[in-house]
Amino acid sequence: MSTSAPAPATTSLAWTVDESPLSIGPRVMPSRDFLAPLAGYTHLAFRRVIRGLGGLGLATTDLVQATLLLARRPRSLELIETDPHDIPLSVQIFGGKVGELAKAARLLESKGYQGIDLNMGCPMAHINGQGGGAKLMCDTDGACGLVEQVVNAVSVPVTVKMRLGWDSTRLNAPVLAREFERLGVAAVTIHGRTRAQGFHGSVSIDGIRAVVEAVDRIPIIGNGDVRTPQQALEMRQQTGCQAVAIGRGALLDPWIFQRIERAIRGENFDSPPSNEDQIAFLRQHFHLMYEQHADFSCLMFRKFAAWYGARLGVPEDLEDRLRRFESVEEFETIVDQIAARHGERETTVPTALIKVPNGPIEHW
Ligand SMILES: Cc1cc2nc3c(=O)[nH]c(=O)nc-3n(C[C@H](O)[C@H](O)[C@H](O)COP(=O)(O)O)c2cc1C
Repeated sequence: MSTSAPAPATTSLAWTVDESPLSIGPRVMPSRDFLAPLAGYTHLAFRRVIRGLGGLGLATTDLVQATLLLARRPRSLELIETDPHDIPLSVQIFGGKVGELAKAARLLESKGYQGIDLNMGCPMAHINGQGGGAKLMCDTDGACGLVEQVVNAVSVPVTVKMRLGWDSTRLNAPVLAREFERLGVAAVTIHGRTRAQGFHGSVSIDGIRAVVEAVDRIPIIGNGDVRTPQQALEMRQQTGCQAVAIGRGALLDPWIFQRIERAIRGENFDSPPSNEDQIAFLRQHFHLMYEQHADFSCLMFRKFAAWYGARLGVPEDLEDRLRRFESVEEFETIVDQIAARHGERETTVPTALIKVPNGPIEHW
């Protein structure tokens, strides 16, 4: 009979990843686990409530269109709202016009923002149609010219978030990352899919590693499909990337950053947050949203009702009320009832609640 090695403990693992402080330009990150931008979700209230749980390094705003930012459109100004607790933060801008991107970066620097992230990864047709997002990757010289102008326009660090390439025949992320480094970009986040893949298929570890190997000094931040502390640390080990950015995984489990920290320390990271902690998270999330958006936050919160319903096992009638409440008082009454009726409905991991576009990518 062969004796196999004992299975590793799932609750505490020894990882050999570099946890020395990581700098992006002059900024030292509190951890190497970053929040990837998720338009519509990763606004100020969500960033703050997640930061409060611990373990989060850099966060980035939802993508903001340079043209609209320069026009001071209220919606764009709202997207870049921040506060002294919301650091370190980068503002992500997108667009296809070099001059506007450089101007928008200057505007942000003049307002005190300490990092600019350029979006070169968005696959959506209306963004690619304006020459922005992943479309920029199709023209290496154009992308480099754009990056150079933005880097030269500001003294704060400029980073780039991109995909592996437009499709599997044009995997130019390593070439671009190398050029960007030469041009003064402070770090690159690489989502390990092509634009043609959209959100389908799985992330290519080899693709991310190729970007890591292409640069000399700047940090590469691996991104895509990280849902657990194990996966975050595996991505670091398998690709050599210096940090990971977690998007959907942070919505599924806002405690993921804190859990990664515990995993690195060799502590138990499996135990789920208590019901009380989750309810406190729910209350704080809404109250922070209310600070920023007042009564409009009742409407904004609807997006999260199903998520909290599954996560907290909220009875159906209360979940429905979370979708329709109109005041802070009503919210508090609902949450008191959620707390009192804990256990009536089974809790589940709300995997299917984050919508990504479907169908042929040309129509996105
Ligand atoms: C709903 C949604 C919104 C997104 N918004 C942005 C965005 O504003 N800027 C950006 O660079 N990427 C955006 N992304 C891509 C994510 O940042 C990330 O690269 C991708 O989801 C893969 O990482 P994940 O598996 O950890 O979510 C978005 C993704 C989703 C699903």
